[in-house]
Amino acid sequence: MSPSGLLRGACRTTLISLLLVCCLLPPGAQGQKFPLRVEPQNPVLPAGGSFLVNCSTDCPNPKLITLETSLPKKPVGNGLGWAAFQLSSVTSDSQVLCSGFCDGFQMTASSDITVYPLPVTPPHLVVPRLLEVGTTWSVNCTLDRLFPASEAQVQLALGNQMLTPAVESHGDTITATATVTASAEQEGAREIVCNLTLGSDSREARENLTIYSFWGPILNLSESSASEGTEVTVTCAAGARVQVTLEGVPAAAPGQPAQLQLIATERDDRRNFSCNATLEVDREILHRNRSVQLRVLYGPKIDQAKCPQRLTWKDRTTNVLRCQAQGNPDPELHCFQEGSWNEVPVGIPFTVMLNYSGTYSCRAVSSRGTYTVTVVMNVQGRNAHAVTIVMVVLVTLGLVTTTAALVYVFGLQKRSDIYQVNQGSTWLPLTSRQPEEAVGEGPS
Ligand SMILES: *[C@@H]1O[C@H](CO)[C@@H](O)[C@H](O)[C@H]1NC(C)=O
Ligand SMILES: *[C@@H]1O[C@H](CO)[C@@H](O)[C@H](O)[C@H]1NC(C)=O
Ligand SMILES: *[C@@H]1O[C@H](CO)[C@@H](O)[C@H](O)[C@H]1NC(C)=O
Ligand SMILES: *[C@@H]1O[C@H](CO)[C@@H](O)[C@H](O)[C@H]1NC(C)=O
Ligand SMILES: *[C@@H]1O[C@H](CO)[C@@H](O)[C@H](O)[C@H]1NC(C)=O
Ligand SMILES: *[C@@H]1O[C@H](CO)[C@@H](O)[C@H](O)[C@H]1NC(C)=O
Repeated sequence: MSPSGLLRGACRTTLISLLLVCCLLPPGAQGQKFPLRVEPQNPVLPAGGSFLVNCSTDCPNPKLITLETSLPKKPVGNGLGWAAFQLSSVTSDSQVLCSGFCDGFQMTASSDITVYPLPVTPPHLVVPRLLEVGTTWSVNCTLDRLFPASEAQVQLALGNQMLTPAVESHGDTITATATVTASAEQEGAREIVCNLTLGSDSREARENLTIYSFWGPILNLSESSASEGTEVTVTCAAGARVQVTLEGVPAAAPGQPAQLQLIATERDDRRNFSCNATLEVDREILHRNRSVQLRVLYGPKIDQAKCPQRLTWKDRTTNVLRCQAQGNPDPELHCFQEGSWNEVPVGIPFTVMLNYSGTYSCRAVSSRGTYTVTVVMNVQGRNAHAVTIVMVVLVTLGLVTTTAALVYVFGLQKRSDIYQVNQGSTWLPLTSRQPEEAVGEGPS
């Protein structure tokens, strides 16, 4: 009630009381033995409403039970010790007064009427349209322009289950909030009702919601770690009315599981299988999916293409022995020289020497067994090469020298063919001589 309303009510009460004391009450009124009751006591009503007032007493011999009011009134019945009246057009706060006589004593009782303006709109109810079993959500019911909001009563119900909302009022707004966990028994179409009552007036809002359960999908492998070559069964199951699709292949009907079988191969290791489940609830399609990974135990093995079996390298050069082993569990790979059992590193650079030449056993080992590949490594010495070069150089040099010598000799012969200088007898005329003689002779 607003302060002004209270003030008005208080003034009116005082006024009527004064009137009663001055005009109506005989001196013996204080001694009355039987009280008079007014029902309802201090009602809160919507403006313009009407209501029934009942004046009653336990006095065995009551007389003249009547109702004093400024409002339009109509008697609607009376009996031994009671009289009832219908009051209408209640537009503002007022007070009614019952009076009567018991054994000559006057009895009186009053009731204050509080009038509030009334909201014409229904409360605002916020609920989800779909609700999964086991999930918790909060329902909100709000109504504003309500006076006095603090006096309003709120009822919230889900189907036939009464909820216990927390009610708050701020000014002329009332808000009721309840937390609800959907249970399996409530599955199906349900209605939520919010009923706000102030005085004899009530407003309600209703909302439909569907409570559903969506179980699954559960995706299973007959073996999560299967040996290569064994059969594996993949199963996907979900609740009734749920359609499952395993690796794109739908189950025969909603509610039925989907299955697929395969013979596990190396390529299925780490393969993911996915199952997609759909459920239609209230014309809405809900999706859910799961995936599971298969591990296949295979190997050990060495990929021949990734491990060259003939290698020719030069002495004191850096090289990498590129070999790879596959398998699950991961195998370990080692290469040993046959005879010496010296190990060469695999996959990392190293400098080869002549003693690296030989046949190697490259072994991949895992808990599942051993796989061996033979690698022949041929390391060519640098010295042999150098000797070859020296030989070639020497032969070339020899050839060049011989050729030069021949050319020289041949050139001398040609020149001696043309003339002969006789330094001993310069006075003699030049004469022709035989070459054979010239070769044998030195200058004189
Ligand atoms: C008025 O109150 C009396 C006593 O409580 C009861 O017997 C009677 O039925 C009531 N009348 C009406 C119309 O409610
Ligand atoms: C609202 O609740 C009141 C009090 O419980 C009740 O009298 C009234 O009938 C309800 N209104 C509706 C529409 O359910
Ligand atoms: C999945 O596997 C578990 C345990 O292996 C078993 O209890 C369950 O029934 C299986 N579910 C389906 C749908 O195959
Ligand atoms: C699940 O399957 C439905 C139809 O079967 C399809 O429309 C949807 O896209 C699929 N969802 C996923 C995540 O694969
Ligand atoms: C369902 O599958 C799709 C594609 O396969 C993926 O993108 C999505 O995240 C999955 N959803 C769930 C809930 O696992
Ligand atoms: C070659 O000889 C060296 C020492 O001279 C030795 O460290 C190395 O292990 C040998 N390698 C092989 C493959 O025999």
